[in-house]
Amino acid sequence: MSDGVGQGDPIRVEMREITKRFGGVHALEGVTFKARAGEVHSLCGENGAGKSTLMKILAGAITDYQGQVVLNGKPVAFGGPKDAEDAGIRIIHQELNLVPDLSVASNIFLGREMTGRFGLVDDRAMEARARAMFDRLGAPIDPRARVGELRIGDQQMVEIAKALMFDAAILIMDEPTSAISDTEVARLFRVINDLRRAGTTVIYISHKMNEVFTLSDSVTVLRDGRFVATAPRTESDPARVVRWMVGREIAGLSFQPHKATGKAMLQVEGLSLPSRPRSGRPSLSGLNFEVHAGEIVGIAGLLGAGRTELLESLFGASPEPPQGTIRLDGVPVRFSRPDRAIVAGVALVTEDRKTLGLFDQMTVAENITLARLNSLTTGGLVDPRREGQAVAKAIVDLSIKTAGGRAAITSLSGGNQQKCIIARWLLTDPKLLLLDEPTRGIDVGAKAEIYTLIRRLADLGMAILMTSSELPELLTVSDRILVLCEGRLTAELPRSEATEETIMDAATRFLDRVTA
Ligand SMILES: Nc1ncnc2c1ncn2[C@@H]1O[C@H](COP(=O)(O)OP(=O)(O)OP(=O)(O)O)[C@@H](O)[C@H]1O
Ligand SMILES: [Mg+2]
Repeated sequence: MSDGVGQGDPIRVEMREITKRFGGVHALEGVTFKARAGEVHSLCGENGAGKSTLMKILAGAITDYQGQVVLNGKPVAFGGPKDAEDAGIRIIHQELNLVPDLSVASNIFLGREMTGRFGLVDDRAMEARARAMFDRLGAPIDPRARVGELRIGDQQMVEIAKALMFDAAILIMDEPTSAISDTEVARLFRVINDLRRAGTTVIYISHKMNEVFTLSDSVTVLRDGRFVATAPRTESDPARVVRWMVGREIAGLSFQPHKATGKAMLQVEGLSLPSRPRSGRPSLSGLNFEVHAGEIVGIAGLLGAGRTELLESLFGASPEPPQGTIRLDGVPVRFSRPDRAIVAGVALVTEDRKTLGLFDQMTVAENITLARLNSLTTGGLVDPRREGQAVAKAIVDLSIKTAGGRAAITSLSGGNQQKCIIARWLLTDPKLLLLDEPTRGIDVGAKAEIYTLIRRLADLGMAILMTSSELPELLTVSDRILVLCEGRLTAELPRSEATEETIMDAATRFLDRVTA
């Protein structure tokens, strides 16, 4: 095998024998990584393989490590992120790093504000630049909106805009598309292709093999903190990369779609939700559908179609209460707050794990048992033995990679944090399980485990409603698929009739078609 990176172009960055330990955890062991100017280089590996850690070192966010970073032939040692930025390195972190209380434009220019004649911050100029960038990305985001009000997909677009606003020699994207859907991804890819032509080195981390193989010139694979291989795209294929990642073959999964035979667990009639001005959040109008016990219903739609809003409105988590009728197990319900929904037997695995899902100050065990503290307590005290057993079982069932229940949640890789949130809601044993992008950031092998788990829960009688922006995922797990476009239900397809084409057709029903 050659060194994998396209021949001819100069090596822009070389990381030599990088080793990084967190306490007893060997996050990286003698990893070597090289990327050339003007190439898109994907970095692949299972959850916890060390991808983010390696890139945090390159971006100056981790400064204590062994080994050497060589930039354009010269060794560098960054004292912090600012040094890396000055050297032309920009990173989009996996866990978004925005300030919720500031506007979109202020976030994009944070620390690099544009100033006008008297040295005053020039908001108008920054807004105009931001707007131009969103046009280029095809994202209708208002630069004056408060970031905290945007949905997670839009926040991800803000992070992307922020990284693109300043010319970078090396642009690192750590799972930039985990919360955005196919149309946005297509636009982003065009921008990435422009950058490559202009000579930028793009380092791209993703669990989505189709993205890796559409975009990259080269692929590097890590496994358990070690370097496995670097190969040009032309000398590798998705199956081979997955084999490098997991060290074994993964069987393709297929489930037979189930006919709804259980009772209607969720019945929705005329569900509507007004949209709040400037929030960029879509409204919902006049939705009618049912989900039966034992059934998995998928929700498809583009970014902004209203998928998250639908799940939140069923969980008592929307800013305004929805209109219409919602029946749970035959009983009309109107949840004003999530805790009411939880008591009634509804669980929501949220797509936004940073603000709604995880508690940074807590341990893995505390994060997992949080939602069912009631059922674990005896006389107001947590029963540590039962809590310990429940957590140990969850760690095994979902193969969560952690030193144990007492480890800090922030010590887990992104994908393993996501598994903790899923574990939390499974422990509440809900009647209706709402899953919003449940496999966001989860690696191929673990995805298959999660699909199997979801199927098993449905077989036990749970009613499951789940969104995903990955159509193959919906087509694998759902018994039936609902398609939303601009807050309206445009199709309801049994799995046997659902294909990527029929879904996309319904998902763009009311939109001016954009040709890619
Ligand atoms: N701050 C930290 N403290 C302790 N351990 C950490 C810390 N950050 C990462 N680790 C550990 O280092 C290993 C590599 O983590 P890293 O985040 O680099 O994985 P990753 O490849 O990015 O995974 P994912 O696909 O889930 O994002 C994991 O075992 C993780 O638990
Ligand atoms: Mg990561």
